Amino acid sequence: MAKSILISNVLPQESRAIIPANVEVDYHDSELPLSRAELIRRLQGRAGLVCHIISTVDEELLQAVPGLKVVANVAVGFNNIDVAAARRHGVVVTNTPDVLTETTADFAWTLLMAAGRRVVEADAYVRSGQWTSWRWGVLWGTDIHGKTLGVVGFGRIGRAMARRARGFGMRVLYHDAVRADAAVERELQATAADLPTLLRESDYVTLHTLLTPDTKHLINERTLRLMKKTAVLVNAARGPVVDEAALVRALTEGWIAGAGLDVFEDEPTIHPGLLPLANVTLAPHIGSASLDTRIAMAALAIRNCLAVLDGQPPLTPVS
Ligand code: GLV
Repeated sequence: MAKSILISNVLPQESRAIIPANVEVDYHDSELPLSRAELIRRLQGRAGLVCHIISTVDEELLQAVPGLKVVANVAVGFNNIDVAAARRHGVVVTNTPDVLTETTADFAWTLLMAAGRRVVEADAYVRSGQWTSWRWGVLWGTDIHGKTLGVVGFGRIGRAMARRARGFGMRVLYHDAVRADAAVERELQATAADLPTLLRESDYVTLHTLLTPDTKHLINERTLRLMKKTAVLVNAARGPVVDEAALVRALTEGWIAGAGLDVFEDEPTIHPGLLPLANVTLAPHIGSASLDTRIAMAALAIRNCLAVLDGQPPLTPVS
């Protein structure tokens, strides 16, 4: 029992290879989530679960699997896990910070640039055959260099965005519940601001908060209306941080100029109002999806799981 784990979805072979032979593994080699009943059934008698964000770990599951010792999420976000309930049940929860910071910031930056310079529209324009002669007035976008970036959530990924902004000569504002050290502010040339000031002054607003009851719908009709009409919103954090219905109105009625979204309120369902809009760039939650980073995330999750099974402290516990 002590050395028996469930990997509830597909993980790279390179990462699974670090599991020693004395650990019994039930591997669900699939992209699709196990049903709740199946997840509980396959966890019986197992001490570890290595899972993606599509597995929900809550009070009901924890009660049904009394032998569980560790849930190792293969993600930095962990809103799929009821951490307080896990603590009550003595189950350790771990995530995969650090290894995905730069890759996720790369992708948030990609969305920022794609939305600002209208890359998806440009691609569609060329493919559709509309490009019959060079035109002065076609597909004007918003500059990135020299503009103001507002970073909401100034953790690892938010700071990695601020670092990228320096290369573009941008002014950086940030908003976070906890003020960064003066040395960090100096290094990143980032200035703390309250949310309304950040929203009013930024040309690009990029979200990097955890999803908590406090951050749910942080971006809503009221806060969207504070943004510049020329501003672009980027969300590579969690969908419910944005009220998607309000965002559709903002994009349709011109309260803001555009958005780049990697995450959605009810993934993989997307608000139907977003789909026809040309001024939004959409991606299927792939912020950390590079080959190297996905292998590193999986390996870290497995190491976390094995550490707890061995009675060692996990490398990256959630709390
Ligand atoms: C992905 O969404 C993550 O939280 O790592």
